[in-house]
Amino acid sequence: MNLSIIVAIDQNFAIGKDNQLPWYLPEDLKYFKRVTTGHTLIMGRKTYDSMGKALPNRRNIVISRQKNLLLKDAEVVHSLDEALSLCSDDKETFIIGGAEVFKQAILLVKSLYITKIDHTFEADTYLQGFNLKEWKEVYREDKKPDEKNHFSYSFIRYEKA
Ligand SMILES: NC(=O)c1ccc[n+]([C@@H]2O[C@H](COP(=O)([O-])OP(=O)(O)OC[C@H]3O[C@@H](n4cnc5c(N)ncnc54)[C@H](OP(=O)(O)O)[C@@H]3O)[C@@H](O)[C@H]2O)c1
Repeated sequence: MNLSIIVAIDQNFAIGKDNQLPWYLPEDLKYFKRVTTGHTLIMGRKTYDSMGKALPNRRNIVISRQKNLLLKDAEVVHSLDEALSLCSDDKETFIIGGAEVFKQAILLVKSLYITKIDHTFEADTYLQGFNLKEWKEVYREDKKPDEKNHFSYSFIRYEKA
């Protein structure tokens, strides 16, 4: 199984505000869909809540400490290890957040799909434990702002150096 993190960050490594994304960047949502469709997603319960539902055409696994949590459209597990053991036969698995789950997963993944947004947003949730100097950039696509996407941003893929 290939295990990757996919995340969008601002210039200060911010990822969230009030359990939502701090920005609206539709091209990044399309990119996320393109990269993850057909694959397995692992997420924290707060990220699931922020989306309000499982993402279609993907296997959705939600991590929670609540022993009685049941979700009608996602599998619930109680640790990252349990999530990973469930998808050991899946070809591609993406850790999709949020900060608490990224922090536990960073030492386990081989690739990072990072959208870097060239702006600073008001935020309350930040990536922790990521040192990008330990990673090698293997792909980059720089994008300019347009009518619908109001910031410049880059789609970057890193692999373990
Ligand atoms: N920019 C991005 O790409 C991106 C991506 C995803 C999310 N986000 C943002 O990030 C924020 C949410 O992140 P967050 O760090 O607050 O929450 P989170 O990581 O999504 O979820 C945290 C919850 O996951 C469960 N959990 C985490 N580790 C666990 C473990 N080892 N064992 C069992 N359960 C575990 C717990 O659920 P219970 O409380 O149910 O026990 C915990 O409260 C939101 O603002 C969201 O919009 C941004």
